[in-house]
Amino acid sequence: MRVKSGESNRMTQVWHKITDCVNNADILSAAADRLRSGGLVVFPTETVYGLGANGLDAKAVRKVFDLKGRPAHNPLILHVADSDQARRLTTTWPREAEILAAAFWPGPLTLVLPKADCVPDEVTAGGPTVAIRVPVHPVALELLRLAHVPVAAPSANRSGEISPTKVEHVLRSFGHRIHEIDLILDAGPTQVGLESTVVSLDGPPTLLRPGMISVPQIEEKLGLRLKILDLHETLAASLPSPGLLKRHYAPHTPLELRQPGAMRDGTQRPPQGERWAWVTLDPTDPPFPMEVRLMPSDPKAYAARLYDVLHELDALGLDRIIVDLPPAGPAWQAIHNRLTRAAAQD
Ligand code: TXA
Ligand code: MG
Repeated sequence: MRVKSGESNRMTQVWHKITDCVNNADILSAAADRLRSGGLVVFPTETVYGLGANGLDAKAVRKVFDLKGRPAHNPLILHVADSDQARRLTTTWPREAEILAAAFWPGPLTLVLPKADCVPDEVTAGGPTVAIRVPVHPVALELLRLAHVPVAAPSANRSGEISPTKVEHVLRSFGHRIHEIDLILDAGPTQVGLESTVVSLDGPPTLLRPGMISVPQIEEKLGLRLKILDLHETLAASLPSPGLLKRHYAPHTPLELRQPGAMRDGTQRPPQGERWAWVTLDPTDPPFPMEVRLMPSDPKAYAARLYDVLHELDALGLDRIIVDLPPAGPAWQAIHNRLTRAAAQD
């Protein structure tokens, strides 16, 4: 694990190499201090890297919005070390919250509940609910334990871009503004690779964002069917979760989703002079020369790999990225969701 520290008045960044962050209490307590004193710290979670700020400090939270270029109407997730801390951020803790927290925390599940008064409006975008999760990544958990404050953290990327699963993605996304981040904790690639599943418990349990904790897994624990917000319904005027805005998680290079086989049978072919990439589960050679990324056929492994592949291909400055539609089924739902958004035109 490496730690990158920036001083706000300097462009130069310093990397310290250390062997094991979890045992390195000094680094993590320094990071926790920065958070408590209003600084910004990038830290790994099991899903994607987060851009963290003290979630009770409205000024620090505003810095996150400014640096990300995030619309003020899109609320942030508060990260906490355990469900006791989570409860204190809400006014009610329904049975469903108890069940889901016991089953999936720490882990890649976010719960939306009525907010307690201590949660600043900046975090919730002025809304009456707050999103909370307990991440399972050991660095994140230890940092949260040491911080003693909830940490507001969106994915550590400029708004609208693909979330970072590696520190190099964070560096590329923030470019010359990277020095506005006080500290970056680098623990290598994240394991889950897609953002957490978001479930609202403010009313009937409702899926707001699919993730790698799947709908059947949640329904089994709750013993009821989740209300599912249809992607297109959520595009209508009132957005219950503004992060559901259609074009989100998108590379700069145009991305197209295609039925598997469309490439092989020649239906798809780059015009003269265009450079394309092909992201596929098909292990045979491509029908014409192009960048090919062979994806794992297991959904967990596919999810873990997807954003890194998209970041990498995007950096090549190609004309188009063609992605074969992955298989159907609940285990692939979050992958379909992110790919659909990455392919959206607006
Ligand atoms: O895995 C994750 O969730 C990562 C890591 C860093 O924890 N975080 C993340 O944060 O993806 P962000 O800000 O990129 O996405 C948060 C999502 C957005 O879609 C936002 O609209 C939704 O959660 N959200 C946050 N607060 C909400 C609320 N009170 N009600 C409904 N949706 C909310
Ligand atoms: Mg994000």
